[in-house]
Amino acid sequence: MTGGSRGIGAATALRLAQEGADVAVGYVNGKEAAEEVVRAVEALGRRSVALRADSADASEAAGVVAAAAEALGGLDILVNNAGVGLLGPLETLSLTDVDRVLAVNVRAVFLASQAAAALMTEGGRIITLGSCMAQRVPGPGGALYAMSKAALAGLTKALARELGERGITANLVLPGPIDTDMNPADGPYASGQAAMTALGRFGTAGEVASMVAYLAGATYVTGAEFAVDGGHAA
Ligand SMILES: NC(=O)c1ccc[n+]([C@@H]2O[C@H](COP(=O)([O-])OP(=O)(O)OC[C@H]3O[C@@H](n4cnc5c(N)ncnc54)[C@H](OP(=O)(O)O)[C@@H]3O)[C@@H](O)[C@H]2O)c1
Repeated sequence: MTGGSRGIGAATALRLAQEGADVAVGYVNGKEAAEEVVRAVEALGRRSVALRADSADASEAAGVVAAAAEALGGLDILVNNAGVGLLGPLETLSLTDVDRVLAVNVRAVFLASQAAAALMTEGGRIITLGSCMAQRVPGPGGALYAMSKAALAGLTKALARELGERGITANLVLPGPIDTDMNPADGPYASGQAAMTALGRFGTAGEVASMVAYLAGATYVTGAEFAVDGGHAA
């Protein structure tokens, strides 16, 4: 699982461990947080390891998948969760910003999925975290982030078609506003985001983790997108 040290990733690591998975916890800067998640997974009776890899680096993005399989003795589920949420007016987004967001949010997902497909056997699962902003951009400032997350829809469908004959599924989860470091429920734009949902509130990381856990067990679901957005797209 990439980005397992905090937020949606940490909640998903724990939820998958509760369901019986051993979990490799990816991180880039949050070593202590990742190690805390490892200890929590181990406390649930599962094996776990923290693996540092910068998704912005192509070789690390692919290499961490092989390292996870090596550490845990195989790979059944890849959760592409690491992401950066860079929002801002069009004229402020630099070429460096464009390259970094596409490298982390898109290229790393492609490379990790490619590496995972080479290692997985029948029943493998590729689950990717996209965003509700790929479907509906509620205001200005989302050009780069929405573009990056929209690319994952095409990738997920193509992976489903290509890997289906090997019994490997690929699905995309589209969170709405979820209370994490990336998007705190008490942040400056939080009330507007909550108001955009039908339920009128932020979601929790655990509510997204529940969907990932469902997809980890789903045998006849592939190439599909699942909004966990409180009705943001309704
Ligand atoms: N929160 C929301 O409202 C929301 C809504 C829609 C979609 N999403 C998506 O859901 C996913 C998780 O979001 P979140 O809110 O849980 O984010 P978060 O709290 O900011 O956590 C991000 C995670 O990704 C890791 N990460 C960031 N950059 C990385 C890099 N270059 N290489 C490797 N790992 C990296 C972080 O590791 P470190 O701890 O080491 O920094 C951390 O574990 C993202 O893909 C995000 O776009 C979130």
